Amino acid sequence: MNIILLGPPGAGKGTQAGRLMDAYGMKQLSTGDMLRAAVKAQTPVGLQAKAVMESGGLVSDEIVSGIIGEALDALPTATGVIFDGYPRTEAQAHSLDALLAERDRELDHVIELAVDEDALVERITGRFTCASCGEGYHDSFKKPLAEGECDKCHGHEFKRRPDDNEETVRTRMAEYRAKTAPILPIYEARGIVSRVDGMADMNVVTQSIKAILDEK
Ligand code: AP5
Repeated sequence: MNIILLGPPGAGKGTQAGRLMDAYGMKQLSTGDMLRAAVKAQTPVGLQAKAVMESGGLVSDEIVSGIIGEALDALPTATGVIFDGYPRTEAQAHSLDALLAERDRELDHVIELAVDEDALVERITGRFTCASCGEGYHDSFKKPLAEGECDKCHGHEFKRRPDDNEETVRTRMAEYRAKTAPILPIYEARGIVSRVDGMADMNVVTQSIKAILDEK
């Protein structure tokens, strides 16, 4: 099974992808995570992407489709993929079709996380992750069980993304509205889009997505 999680910044794509990986043995391919790793490693892709990401703009279609192709090549065909943050433009949607067809894969579901944009700024500006294992937290919605200690790996270092400030978040949302939301009709025409209420409790969102994936 290959699925896309689609939604604006802070909709919960990364949160839900992590849970689906655990439940279904699928692999999450997050272009945001891959680009952040490239920035950290100062690779040529990372050097090109850094300033664009910090401004909230979109990295070029060629770069992101290139890294998705490489990531797919590193996976056994039988491993299902959760596309998180990709595709984000019409050109990327067409590239994904080609990348999947070349690898005998099909797209089964596009799950749209429907959210109230005003609430997303609070979600994003309150977000932080464990510096060791990457487990995600939130100042209000998901605090570590023991203060200052990661629930998963018991690490004590946490970090925040440089693009998680209000100004950049507003730019990222505008990019979503202008370039990403318009790709939905491509998938609606194929009858593979399901909408889930992304404002519900995280566990309820997970259950709703699982109900869709378990249908067939
Ligand atoms: P990317 O990393 O993809 O960021 P994004 O799309 O802006 O999404 P986020 O990671 O911010 O949010 P999310 O939906 O995963 O939410 P999360 O689960 O963390 O991209 C970053 C940048 O990289 C882009 O701006 C661009 O420059 C570049 N880029 C990446 N892909 C690209 C592409 N394909 N093309 C071009 N450029 C690209 O949740 C957020 C918070 O809310 C968390 O704290 C979480 O705990 C909390 N939360 C989640 N669900 C709920 C809930 N139901 N109730 C309450 N709180 C919740």
